[in-house]
Order: sequence, then C-alpha cells, then structure tokens
Amino acid sequence: MEKTARKVMEVLSGKTVSPPPVWLMRQAGRYLPEYRETRRQAKGFLDLCYSPDLAVEVTMQPIRRYGFDAAILFSDILVIPDAMRRNVRFVEGEGPQLDPISLEEIERLEAPDLARHLAPVFETVSRLRTELPDTTTLLGFCGAPWTIATYMIAGHGTPDQAPARLFAYQHPKAFDRLLSVIAEASADYLIRQIDAGADAVQIFDSWAGVLGDDEFQRYAVGPVRRIVDVVRAARPETKVIAFAKGAGANLRTYRQGVDADAIGLDWALPLDFAVELQKDGAVQGNLDPLLMVAGGEALENRARRILDKLGHGPLIFNLGHGITPQADPENVTRLLEIIRGG
Ligand code: CP3
Repeated sequence: MEKTARKVMEVLSGKTVSPPPVWLMRQAGRYLPEYRETRRQAKGFLDLCYSPDLAVEVTMQPIRRYGFDAAILFSDILVIPDAMRRNVRFVEGEGPQLDPISLEEIERLEAPDLARHLAPVFETVSRLRTELPDTTTLLGFCGAPWTIATYMIAGHGTPDQAPARLFAYQHPKAFDRLLSVIAEASADYLIRQIDAGADAVQIFDSWAGVLGDDEFQRYAVGPVRRIVDVVRAARPETKVIAFAKGAGANLRTYRQGVDADAIGLDWALPLDFAVELQKDGAVQGNLDPLLMVAGGEALENRARRILDKLGHGPLIFNLGHGITPQADPENVTRLLEIIRGG
C-alpha cells in the first residue's frame, strides 16, 4: 500500500502544499484545560518531561483536539543543562532557574551521558510515533547552543541576555568552549530522537535577536551549523527547521549558514521580506501569538494575509513564537478553519 503523506515532511522537501500544513509552537501547554489537568498529576515540570505516560498524553492532547499536521515532543530545551547536572528547576510563576556556570566549571564541563539521563524522553518519542496518526509528522527538538548558554550563564531568564553577552565579550575562548560542548550534546540528543522515531527536528534559538551581526555569525550560526553537520553525518536524511527568533536581516544568510531545510520566522518579520526568504526554500511562521488571545477580525485578517503572501510557496503555517497561557482554545479552532478553508 502507498505510504500516507506527511504534509510537513513534503514542505520540508521544498514542495508547496495547499492548504499549508499547520502546527503551533508550544501547542501542548497551559492554554489547554486538559494540559493543566495532567500537569497537576506531575510533581514538577521536569517530572512531566521525564514521565513517558504523561509526556505522551500532553503531546497527544492538541493532536486529538485540533488534528494538527505535526506533533512536537513534549520536553524542554533545558533538559540538556539538566543532564549536565546544572540543577535545573522550574519555579511556579518564575520560569526556569539553574546554577550559574563559572569560568572554571566551563573548563571542566563534559558531554553528558544522554542515554542514561534522558532515557525517558527517548521512550516518549518512540511511543509517540506508534500512537500518532500516520499522516502526523513527529518533530523532535533542541535549543540552539546560544540560547541554552544564556540560561546556563545567567542561571535564569533575563530580558536581554546581558550576562551571556558580557561573558562572551570578556571570555570569548571559554564561551566558545561552552557552546561547543552544548552543540556536541545537542547533536547527540537529536540523533537519539531521530533513532527513536522523530521525523524531523527543530532547533530553537529564542534569543538570537539580541546578538550583534558579528556575534550572530559566531554564536548563532556557527554552533547550529555544527549540530546540523554532525546530525547529517550520522543520519543524512534528517530534515531540520531552524528558528532564530528576532534575527531580522540576519535571516538573509541564515538558512544557508546553518544548512536548514526550513527557517522559522517570528511575527515581527515583514511579510515582504518573508516572501524573499521563501524563494530560497521553506519557511515556517509567523502569526503573532497574541492573536490567539485577541481573536476576531484581527486574527482573521492577519492569518489571511500570511496565506496570501506565503501560501503559494513552501509554507508550514505556525505562530511567530509559542502560544501563551492566555490564548483562547476557540481561536485556535478558528485559525484552523481559516487555513483549511473557512
Ligand atoms: O508544545 C510544545 O511546543 C512542546 C514543548 C516545549 C516546551 N518548551 C514546554 C514548556 C518546547 C518546544 C519548549 C521549548 C523551550 N523551552 C524554549 C524555546 C522556545 C521558546 O519558547 O522560546 C525555551 C526558551 C524554553 C525554556 C523555558 N521552558 C522557559 C523560559 C519556560 C518558562 C516560561 C513559561 O512559559 O512559563 C519553560 C517552561 C515550559 N516549557 C512550559 C511548557 C509547556 C510551561 C511550564 C508549565 O507548564 O508549568
């Protein structure tokens, strides 16, 4: 029998699919009552990530409710520093906290044993591939080294990542070493997700937008390229989506620089610029996540504009960043109607 098509995979091969496939960053999350219910059953957020039963359940929730074209593994980018024993905690209402890493600790930092520390995540991936509909793409993911490093240096989220930027200016050699240990661990992590059943992977560089252009090349492009090269050397067919949030004009050379099959676009990126970028290959994005709160005409108009501008080329419809806890689940239903022909 003919194998059923996974539309996201088709777009990642450069095809135009109409209507475009759609999934939403952070589609499993607090805006869904069923997520909040499952979340209560886990002790902490990391326990949720490391319990395959619960992680499979929350990954499946938005697929059952909306029939998205892709599921994304439920985990977090900070499981890599957690495996490096950086004491990652998620404090209710405060976001992630880690032990800030020192210069001396960077010199001694080693690649973590992921088979041991992240075994439950790989089990979640393999169970998901058997549970998901055949037509649903399963995405694995990791954080980009720059974004992971910002949390490891500061020990928490900051508005502009000043601690990591300053550290990089003052200790460039140590910072390069930190990024390279994270890149090796991340490549290993992605290869294991592929082997467990992930169809493609996304690399999240949520903090790429705070880098100057030289630093963007050195810290956002170089280490992500290294991950892609290592992953493709081991698993040559791997499709990669690279999302450098806030990268703006740096996106002109980003796809080629990191060798991605698709690039993610944030909501602030002008659509005319997005059209230019799409001439080189698939794009993913870029609806403002706040339109999932606002709904109404604002949502309708912008979603249609994105479809008009980008729907005639290779597009994976998505938000320009993760959906927020305040989003109305009904607006997601409405968005899917608009995309799929409403
Ligand atoms: O549905 C999905 O998208 C899959 C799961 C996923 C999560 N985090 C679950 C999560 C993915 C892909 C991520 C990626 C992630 N994690 C990123 C990159 C993407 C982005 O949003 O920029 C980053 C920077 C993180 C780090 C992180 N994790 C932060 C800063 C926070 C706290 C912020 C917040 O929203 O509270 C988290 C926690 C987190 N990761 C939650 C979820 C659903 C919320 C925590 C909870 O449920 O208690």
